[in-house]
Amino acid sequence: MEARARIDALREELHAHNHRYYVLAEPAISDREFDALLEELSALEAAHPEWDDPTSPTRRVGGDLTDKFEKVAHQSPMLSLSNSYNAEEVAQWAERVKAGLPDEEVEFVIELKYDGVAISLWYAQGALVKALTRGDGTTGEDVRANVATIKTLPLRLASGAPDPLEIRGEIFFPWPGFEALNEKRKEAGEPEFANPRNTAAGTLKLQDSSVVATRPLDCMIYNVDADTMTALGVTSHSEAVQRAAEWGFKTPQGRALEVVQTVDEIMASVAHWEKARHDLDFAIDGLVVKVNRYSQQKRLGMTAKSPRWALAYKFETERVSTTLQGVKYQVGRTGAVTPVADLLPVQLGGTTVKNASLHNADQIAKLGLREGDTVFVEKGGEIIPKIVGVDGASASAGDLFSQAIEFPNACPECDTPLVRKEGEAQHYCPNTATCPAQVRGRINHFISRKAMNVDGLGKETVAQLVEAGLIRDVADLYRLTAEDLLPLERMAQKSVDNLLAGLEASKQVPFERVLFGLGIRHVGETVAKHLARALVHVEAFKTTSVEELMALEEIGPIVADSVATHFQDPAFLEVLDRLKAVGLQMEVVVEEPLGNALEGEVVVVSGVFDTMSRDEAKAAVTNHGGRLVGSISSKTTLVLAGDKMGPSKLQKAEKLGIPLMDEQTFLARIGVSE
Ligand code: IVH
Repeated sequence: MEARARIDALREELHAHNHRYYVLAEPAISDREFDALLEELSALEAAHPEWDDPTSPTRRVGGDLTDKFEKVAHQSPMLSLSNSYNAEEVAQWAERVKAGLPDEEVEFVIELKYDGVAISLWYAQGALVKALTRGDGTTGEDVRANVATIKTLPLRLASGAPDPLEIRGEIFFPWPGFEALNEKRKEAGEPEFANPRNTAAGTLKLQDSSVVATRPLDCMIYNVDADTMTALGVTSHSEAVQRAAEWGFKTPQGRALEVVQTVDEIMASVAHWEKARHDLDFAIDGLVVKVNRYSQQKRLGMTAKSPRWALAYKFETERVSTTLQGVKYQVGRTGAVTPVADLLPVQLGGTTVKNASLHNADQIAKLGLREGDTVFVEKGGEIIPKIVGVDGASASAGDLFSQAIEFPNACPECDTPLVRKEGEAQHYCPNTATCPAQVRGRINHFISRKAMNVDGLGKETVAQLVEAGLIRDVADLYRLTAEDLLPLERMAQKSVDNLLAGLEASKQVPFERVLFGLGIRHVGETVAKHLARALVHVEAFKTTSVEELMALEEIGPIVADSVATHFQDPAFLEVLDRLKAVGLQMEVVVEEPLGNALEGEVVVVSGVFDTMSRDEAKAAVTNHGGRLVGSISSKTTLVLAGDKMGPSKLQKAEKLGIPLMDEQTFLARIGVSE
């Protein structure tokens, strides 16, 4: 009876964790804890087949099916791997493998366990025709359009590749691209992504492939169908992976694909990668050990859930305990209030950790944090360490007088009561106009490198200026005088001169960067560029409707709505007017032509030139009033013909009677002579 109750409890708990992990992307426990529960359930179920349940969490490998993409059945189930965490578990697995292959030599191949999303790629006549997510293991979703944006995946295979071909691998988000994306989100006032794995998974499920294309995902191959390879005379996994490289796939190199014989060698590789993983530019969460020879894999076979011939070795997530000294509340430029744990400094993953992110009020309540608690801190796939639990045995746990951490009701900077929007986890300070934290945030964003890039002005000075009441918005910056600045602490004549010169120079910054600097929510650098080029003049922003904005290239409903709201806000428009009055760029400047010698000419540039590159030749045409076209037609009035102009172009020009002009004549015509 006891076992029955435990089975029910475990099934319920694991279903809930699966939902949190796959659907909400908000796991509450570590992979290792999850596996421990799953293993306990498997053992109990094996001992009590009478309580079998086809919907038990042990019967599936996780599910993430939505209704946005076409469902396609997998050619063979996409399985998961059984996990191990130490040498003993690896040795036990190797024993079982050897017992299944009596009197045979066994070769193992070790690969990295990429921390991303599994993908099954289908090629027909050499072309990528489908890319299926794992889904529920039996049926996946075809996300080909999104996968096709990945530069390291061949859309067409090199000759010699099998046809048809099904090949599997992992799609992941390398650190440099992930960090750049988060930097952009921060600049646009959007919440940052927690880790590359969930971001890769979310990105593959986006409806708009052009957004996917801006995110540099990567893909590494880890499995080629054994039957396909056997038919080609390939007998082992390591060889198959190398062949896949010949067809154009990105495959592991060097020690990332290592063939070994013994458990000791496997553990030596583990020791190597536990350190070397930090030098990789993508995240791995362990290694995968596979029996190398196909004939042996086949004889070992699989269980319902995973192949017997493969084993994942998971790295221990580094976890330390330390004291929670308190919680600070940071107010961003959009008013979002983020709690940050103040920790007794502790070493974790090679760095000293003093702070941990707490996300929002719910997280604090869920952890039941009290000041002085001993907390567990982990740095898993995340960059920022997080608090994963409280040590129940710590001193403050039973201490009735210790202070429970409560999310404040009012803004820590300006005391305005906080608000929480329906359905959102974040609290906001609604005092947009005068909350000093928001004022500072907006000004710091405005003067930042990618916006106005004001030399001689930094965050400390901004804080001083706001504190002294000298500036309340970005336009106030341009009213500052030497008399205002000199009395401030650490302000000598030279720094005052630099600051004022920096502000003066910023008046030449192009409109698109002014627009970005205004800090309109969801308007990052790229969106600002598109908007500026499309609407040209700031006045146009005031009269363009949400629908018209949405019709522009790259502009979706969220951006359109945010832009329209700002340009109807009297306070925002007032600042804009003052910025215009001091002489900031409020329209896109079209380069003045250097001359009009080619006015009215419709020009094709072809061949190579002695004194200029082809691009320079083209620039010269437009700079002198000519209009460039790509191919010769009856509308063309002139062909600027260099050496090696193609014969078909020559013929066409002749046929249509369009004059050819050589380089010297062209230079003379535009007034450039050597
Ligand atoms: S082999 C039939 N090799 O880990 C075995 N999987 O927990 C198929 N993974 O779904 C998997 N790196 O998404 C294999 N080198 C690797 C891997 C790898 C990451 C992922 C894969 C799989 C999951 C299993």
